Amino acid sequence: MIFYFTGTGNSQYAAQKLVSDDERLVSVVECLRKDNYTFEIAENESVGLVFPVYFGGLPVAVRQFIERLRLNAVPAYLYGVLTSGGSPAGAGAMLRDRLGEAGLTLDASYSVTMPDNYVMLYTISPESEEKKILARADRDLERIRSKIAGRRRTFAARSPIGKAMTAVLYPVYLNGRKTAPFTTNETCIGCAACANRCPSRAIEMKDGHPTWVKERCCFCMSCVRCGAIEYGTKLTGKARYKHPMLRKKAGHGEHGAPGAAAHDHGAAAAGHDHGSSAPAAHDHGAAAGGHDHGGDDCCCPPDEAGGTHVH
Ligand SMILES: Cc1cc2nc3c(=O)[nH]c(=O)nc-3n(C[C@H](O)[C@H](O)[C@H](O)COP(=O)(O)O)c2cc1C
Ligand code: SF4
Ligand code: SF4
Repeated sequence: MIFYFTGTGNSQYAAQKLVSDDERLVSVVECLRKDNYTFEIAENESVGLVFPVYFGGLPVAVRQFIERLRLNAVPAYLYGVLTSGGSPAGAGAMLRDRLGEAGLTLDASYSVTMPDNYVMLYTISPESEEKKILARADRDLERIRSKIAGRRRTFAARSPIGKAMTAVLYPVYLNGRKTAPFTTNETCIGCAACANRCPSRAIEMKDGHPTWVKERCCFCMSCVRCGAIEYGTKLTGKARYKHPMLRKKAGHGEHGAPGAAAHDHGAAAAGHDHGSSAPAAHDHGAAAGGHDHGGDDCCCPPDEAGGTHVH
């Protein structure tokens, strides 16, 4: 069984690459949204946790999930796969410690570098660079997959230097994550996709528009995939990141930042053109292909929106 947490698709993609045909793939976001933490595993079954690194540590949502997780048996092999922009610091050590507190023993941790999605701080990589990062990640995931199959005991992201970096960085995350600066601009069409995706349940729809109802969230960058969402001035006019897998079926809640020419680079990314602030006039762009505007309250492909998947 593989549990994955994702804000912008990297870790979901990684989990999909790692899962075997007869293995369950479970979305942590869906578990959190449905308060579902109890799972049965078979004898000799391995359990994986795939998630992004935030400030050298675990997303608070992943910590919450680990605290609440109830398994009927001890996994035969328990491993973590950490996706990051290249600096996982001591996140592997934090994973070991958090699992230990929950009575579980980590048998291996793996690290894979993927495009950095922290658009609040960085500008997303140009397409050519992104392609290289993703190609390298594919090769790394292939290697990790065979190590997992061999139930190797290997531990990434827990060096003393990494742990020291985490000790400095992670409190910044814990004390930040404030939702007060979130607003929407005039291009919001009230589709509720952002609210439906939020793992912190920090967004509620009020008068047809999202409202942030919690003081802090886990800062996963899922909602800001939609260019109608601003964070003070930090995101204004900036391209937002989502894994190319999620660009194939863009729809409500996936449109780009107004004025962000580089938004959603990639052929399938749908060069959305918000030529008008009137919702009805949204032009989702020819490249996007068959947008599904038909009543679905979430724009994500079934893999992300559908919750617990059995492959
Ligand atoms: C709040 C936040 C903090 C992040 N901190 C780090 C970090 O400390 N080191 C790093 O290499 N990448 C960092 N990243 C980048 C993500 O770990 C990386 O892009 C990840 O693959 C995103 O996964 P996802 O698409 O599954 O959400 C951070 C991203 C966010 C949103
Ligand atoms: S408010 Fe946005 S950034 Fe914060 S947890 Fe929810 S979806 Fe993620
Ligand atoms: S996903 Fe975007 S368009 Fe849809 S309600 Fe949220 S902010 Fe508005």
